[in-house]
Amino acid sequence: MTKLGTAIPQNDLREFIAACESAGELAHVPNAHWNKELGAVAEVLYRQKVEKSPMLLFDDIPEYPKGYRCLYGMFGSPFRLSLALGMETTLSNNRKEMLDHFRKNIKKSFNRIEPTILTEGPVLENVVRDNAVDLVKFPVPIHHELDGGRYIGTACGVVTRDPDTGRVNVGTYRVQVKSANTCASYISNGKQGRIHRDKYLKAGKPCPVVIIVGCDPITYLAAGYTMPDAMPEYEWAGGLMGRPMELVEGEVTGLPFPARAEIVLEGEILPDETTLEGPFGEWHGYYAGEAKDEPVIRIKRIYHRNNPILTCAASNKPPHSHLFERCFLRSASLLDALEGAGIPDVTGAWLHQAGAGRTFCVVSVKQRYHGHSTQVGLVASQVASVGYISRWIVVVDDDIDPTDIHDVIWAMGTRCDPKTRTTMLDNCWSSRLDTMVFDYSKLTNSRMVIDACKPYEHYDTFPKVAQTSPEFAAQIRAKYPELYK
Ligand SMILES: Cc1cc2nc3c(=O)[nH]c(=O)nc-3n(C[C@H](O)[C@H](O)[C@H](O)COP(=O)(O)O)c2cc1C
Repeated sequence: MTKLGTAIPQNDLREFIAACESAGELAHVPNAHWNKELGAVAEVLYRQKVEKSPMLLFDDIPEYPKGYRCLYGMFGSPFRLSLALGMETTLSNNRKEMLDHFRKNIKKSFNRIEPTILTEGPVLENVVRDNAVDLVKFPVPIHHELDGGRYIGTACGVVTRDPDTGRVNVGTYRVQVKSANTCASYISNGKQGRIHRDKYLKAGKPCPVVIIVGCDPITYLAAGYTMPDAMPEYEWAGGLMGRPMELVEGEVTGLPFPARAEIVLEGEILPDETTLEGPFGEWHGYYAGEAKDEPVIRIKRIYHRNNPILTCAASNKPPHSHLFERCFLRSASLLDALEGAGIPDVTGAWLHQAGAGRTFCVVSVKQRYHGHSTQVGLVASQVASVGYISRWIVVVDDDIDPTDIHDVIWAMGTRCDPKTRTTMLDNCWSSRLDTMVFDYSKLTNSRMVIDACKPYEHYDTFPKVAQTSPEFAAQIRAKYPELYK
């Protein structure tokens, strides 16, 4: 029988927390209440410190045993994200460098590795069955002041299996507690978990489900990362770590979940019972989409470690403590997609935090031919990682840094003629979370592709940039070292 391997920061939350603490990236917060305080503490700190904000581990939560903890802001800093992705943490302050390193040295070097199924693991330290199930045995937070209830699933992974192909999917979808043994999840149209769920429910069958609500870093990153259908999340995670994910299977559904997870719920989504879900403060900074009926999820088992840690991601008006990783991973995924589509010389991309990692996307290109920048913008507006609730797609030349909003606005103001070099697209992928979708019978939006590249036909004769050349700047720096210290 295969035995559990060693824990590392990527696959074990406690190792990850210890490594962050050693690097001074963790703060312990005692005595904050699950009712709105935890989310507010995390938000107010992140607004003040942004990417310098530590990860927050809440303990001594009123009404709960000491050791029942909540964790916010897992990847809110470049250091923490680099650690989770297995990258050198010293590279971590330059976004472009981080992205290049991830795509060239980390991602390119790994292959899918199939998970190992074990019969043991810390997550099985406690197994709660049937009538003993009580979802609020954990300090489940109300994250925002106007949320419709306690959300156990935010930094979570919802595991489903495609009834046709058997493909196991892990997606991050919010999960609200509705009673001791029921909950409800909002999954947007088009997401893989939604497609799986609807296949069962349309056939009048319950949909087996596992909800990993206390997550190791790698499962959580994989769950929120838009991957092609051909790339199962657990295999991606194994590839990233260079060794198989270690999973155990649920007693009721047989669905797999990490042996080192903190808290896991298992049950089924019912075909014939709904309950009101929402509202919830969402990633774009609004309580959008209203409360709406969603299928009831009945929980039959809870598996958890001793002194479990509930991982949390409370979105707010950006910037907030779990956006940085989304901006990073979506940008990486967009670059992969453009490369996969065969478009040459795309030099960078960034989904800005101000656009909540979705609505404001910038791509840079070294133009090679007429129509090149149009091609980049139109494809970028639709690929899976960026196509959902996108709004503004800006294409810039390769001398513009897509991560630098000043550079981008300068290019928009000087290289784009709005009348002739913008393209409006309609009927694109959106959802009821979109603040500009008012008719829920038609979940689409429009978006604009802004070509802020020098027109190709004028590329060589375009006015020269008035900026000291790098060589001359280096001479000046060398002449006045004290001034430029
Ligand atoms: C913290 C966090 C919360 C999320 N909440 C939801 C949600 O409630 N509903 C949803 O449809 N997508 C949500 N998402 C986005 C999906 O997780 C994301 O699109 C993911 O790629 C979906 O996986 P899939 O492509 O396997 O469907 C969330 C993402 C993160 C990181």
